[in-house]
Amino acid sequence: MKILGIESTCDETSAAVVEDKRIVLSNILASQAKLHNKYGGVVPELASRKHLEALPIVVDEALNEAKVSIDDIDAIAVSKEPGLPPALQVGYAYASGLATSKNIELIEVNHLEGHISGIWLVHKGDKKKRIPYPYLCLLVSGGHTEIRLVSDKKNQKILGRTLDDASGEAFDKVARILGLGYPGGPIIDMLSQEGDEHFMKFPRPMIDSENLDFSFSGLKTAVMRHVDTLQKDHDQFRKDKTLHKELTSNWVNDVAASFQEAVVDVLVTKTINAANQIGVPIITMAGGVSANSRLRDMMGRTCHENVFELFYPEVEFCLDNAAMIAARGSEVFKRTK
Ligand code: KG4
Ligand code: ZN
Repeated sequence: MKILGIESTCDETSAAVVEDKRIVLSNILASQAKLHNKYGGVVPELASRKHLEALPIVVDEALNEAKVSIDDIDAIAVSKEPGLPPALQVGYAYASGLATSKNIELIEVNHLEGHISGIWLVHKGDKKKRIPYPYLCLLVSGGHTEIRLVSDKKNQKILGRTLDDASGEAFDKVARILGLGYPGGPIIDMLSQEGDEHFMKFPRPMIDSENLDFSFSGLKTAVMRHVDTLQKDHDQFRKDKTLHKELTSNWVNDVAASFQEAVVDVLVTKTINAANQIGVPIITMAGGVSANSRLRDMMGRTCHENVFELFYPEVEFCLDNAAMIAARGSEVFKRTK
């Protein structure tokens, strides 16, 4: 079975062909990140216009790279929600038009369930991943931070979620405070590798509470206050010419690393608490923030110490992509034509 996936919920236009639920034959991405960078975030109307231009091109490329024609496709899976409404509408209209004109089934896929199905995607020729139900999923993206219990292909239960900012949103906002551009997560991840995570002990909101909810807006505010204080010292420098010792070129790296450490500490601690409370032996991670190198490292070590098995997708399948939409589409597909 071959499914064509189409993804356009935010600022990535993507099309992919996935065979037998998990084998990726192609996964084409047209990123708009550079375009939105100058606005410090995604502009929905600009995004939808760019999706409109890119969709036919990425779909063609996905079919070509997979060496299939549209007539070989059993169904088209398209992400339906959640996402930016103007961006979603363009992708959905394109996918449903293509499905109708070629008499192919259309499957509507929830974008977040798509992220979770991305966990077992592999490239052709790679070893297949078998992840038995039930498992926990730490779902961390730009708009969502949740811990889900995935009981089987139909049943998922949210055990905890953020009460304010999502973890990816916190990365993006802190990057903006530090003047680092958009999207912030990959930049903070990279700079942190040169920084000292013990430079500042930023708060770890709700880390000790028994419930599995998160809160990240206070952490972002703590970073903002720290930056403001240093900024004032910097103004002082202009007057008396003594440079604050923290205002060195390493300062941004150190603040980035200290912030990232706080986020990762909260995400790992709460996920392990959830696994202990529920008693499941497998932990998975999905969504853009699961590409974070420190999170992968800390979660890997903590799972090993606590004897949990851990799975997460390749970076390509953590970030928004159409292969994960095709994978979820394959799972829920029921042939009617
Ligand atoms: O899942 P995703 O690609 O799109 C949404 O569905 O939101 O997630 C995007 C988010 C952004 O906030 C981005 O800054 C974050 O994922 N992100 C990262 C990393 N790569 C992307 N956050 C931390 N470390 C990364 N390496
Ligand atoms: Zn996403």
